Amino acid sequence: MRFGVVTAWPAEDWHSRRLLASFGRRGEAAAVDPAALAAFVGEAALEVRASQRPAARFDAWVLARGLGRSGDPDVQFEVYRALEGTGSLVVNKIDALLSAQDKLRTSWLLRRAGVATPRAAVAQAPRQAVAALAWLGEAVAKPIAGSLGDGLERVRDDRAGRRAVLDRVGRDGAVYLQAWVEHPGRDARLFVVGERVAGAMERRAPPGEWRTNVERGARVRPLPAGGPLGALAVAAARALGLDWAGVDVVTGPEGPTVLEVNGNPSWVGILEATGEDMAEPIAEHVWARARQRLERTRPTPEQAGANHG
Ligand SMILES: Nc1ncnc2c1ncn2[C@@H]1O[C@H](COP(=O)(O)OP(=O)(O)O)[C@@H](O)[C@H]1O
Ligand SMILES: [Mg+2]
Repeated sequence: MRFGVVTAWPAEDWHSRRLLASFGRRGEAAAVDPAALAAFVGEAALEVRASQRPAARFDAWVLARGLGRSGDPDVQFEVYRALEGTGSLVVNKIDALLSAQDKLRTSWLLRRAGVATPRAAVAQAPRQAVAALAWLGEAVAKPIAGSLGDGLERVRDDRAGRRAVLDRVGRDGAVYLQAWVEHPGRDARLFVVGERVAGAMERRAPPGEWRTNVERGARVRPLPAGGPLGALAVAAARALGLDWAGVDVVTGPEGPTVLEVNGNPSWVGILEATGEDMAEPIAEHVWARARQRLERTRPTPEQAGANHG
């Protein structure tokens, strides 16, 4: 089995290294720089190449760090779509990754799938931003495509809150607001692979901090992977179309609710909490999907003429 592991940082990036090692245990794992991908639209067909190798020679494409340090990100997105379009297995799917990156799209995809998630709003015009804050009352303002707890701000429907929201509209052109969920400074991060939770942890924020990101100094401990939280996390990953995902679940007064879904989740914290390297279940899952596809496309003995000779 051949795996193309897309990353511009095969040696420097801890996650890329782990994925290359786990896929390498199941076949050939080639690190492919996103900027080395090219597409050729010929008379009859489209061909994608990674350096000199036709992409069709690979059984699966793994978007470890799908965006390169060089090249054009829009071209890279389109090449991943073309790969999918020409029948290659690409995980995570590029459009699922882009959905997870976009907090507005995440909110509505979760809502549409019936997965518990707080009310949320985006607004571009100052009056609508103020109205959105009034509608939510108490909220967290977030960058539409942020991570690691960066740029998050708690806002209330008061003078300071309205000021903060208007500043964001002026600076960024839009503001995303998610209803505040009262929580005791801890939440759950569940790492979903395929249809199951491969690892889960509780994250406990340091005193005075409401953001539970590991990058903000949260302490971690293992959580059981099953139960209602697990089912919620699996449903959240499915709603976004992700093969693997990191799902943030906080338990508020109305029960567990999904704050966000990460399509390119780190598993440094999960490894610390559980001792489990998520590269293994990821590689196992992708390997199983690739094998299934090979079996589907392999000719049956009858088609191959085995019974007619
Ligand atoms: N609506 C909310 N109510 C309460 N806490 C929140 C809310 N949104 C985010 N947080 C806290 O901030 C952390 C980071 O928010 P999140 O949406 O996951 O953004 P990021 O992509 O930066 O991790 C969460 O893990 C949680 O602890
Ligand atoms: Mg998060």
